[in-house]
Amino acid sequence: MSQFILSNPNFAPMVGLVQLNRPKELNALNLELMGQLRDALVEMDENPDIRCIIVTGNERAFAAGADIKQMAGKNAIDMLKIDQFSTWDTIRRVKKPIIAAVSGFALGGGHELCMLCDMIIASETAKFGQPEINIGVMPGAGGTQRMARVVGKVNVMELVLTGKFIDAQRAYELGLVNRVVPVELYLEEATKLATEICQKSPLAVQAAKESILKAYETPLQEGLAFERKNFYMLFATEDQKEGMAAFVEKRKADFKGK
Ligand code: CAA
Repeated sequence: MSQFILSNPNFAPMVGLVQLNRPKELNALNLELMGQLRDALVEMDENPDIRCIIVTGNERAFAAGADIKQMAGKNAIDMLKIDQFSTWDTIRRVKKPIIAAVSGFALGGGHELCMLCDMIIASETAKFGQPEINIGVMPGAGGTQRMARVVGKVNVMELVLTGKFIDAQRAYELGLVNRVVPVELYLEEATKLATEICQKSPLAVQAAKESILKAYETPLQEGLAFERKNFYMLFATEDQKEGMAAFVEKRKADFKGK
């Protein structure tokens, strides 16, 4: 079985690129691949030269879901012991923004991985879906929860209960992706977005990401209190001094992440 993660921090200045590379299996997310993805993302999160991360697949598939062949013979206790979703929890804790650059199939766990990322750039050829219902199960990596918060009850019900695929344009209409671009441009567009974010204060970017995620995970009052503390905390940074001084002096800010 050929699979590896290509981690190329030099892909663009300060942008880390992780490419899922199990093309023959349409990047089906087996335990090894998810472990490698987690390790690559944690490493990039700790690398001070990287400010934003892109996760991508290939033109035919971002990822066609969890590896059905690996799961087929398992019972409930096996699944509980394997505890595959602790890997997903670790990825959820990555502080830097993660952009999914998606072409082709993003199904089941592949779509859930997109939703675990912070932003999604889709090629016109992207196809999204939660087809687990067709194989006698249901989404297990956030499909019912994260998608419900984005597309609302009736839409998530239809997608999860029928297992049907939607195209990139429909995903855009549902608010599942940031934008749809021609297939030859999806990685370039994701890189542009990442590079733009890299110009900001990384401390402010990370505090903002953390606060936005709270909006999906806590009641409003708790989220507001969290946001406020992060806002005040940023006044302890040199980047805040630099950003506001640059505004007053009518020049471009040079953020150091301090
Ligand atoms: N797991 C394991 N292998 C997979 C796979 C998956 N999720 N998806 C595709 N593959 C393999 C196929 O078995 C095939 O391998 P072989 O050549 O050895 O037979 C290879 O990838 C190419 O796939 P197809 O020949 O099926 O390609 P296609 O173009 O005819 O169809 C497809 C593409 C519609 C994506 C189809 O492969 C498919 O339906 N895949 C399964 C999608 C799915 O059900 N995903 C949900 C998985 S469960 C899950 O994700 C649970 C969770 O919430 C975490």
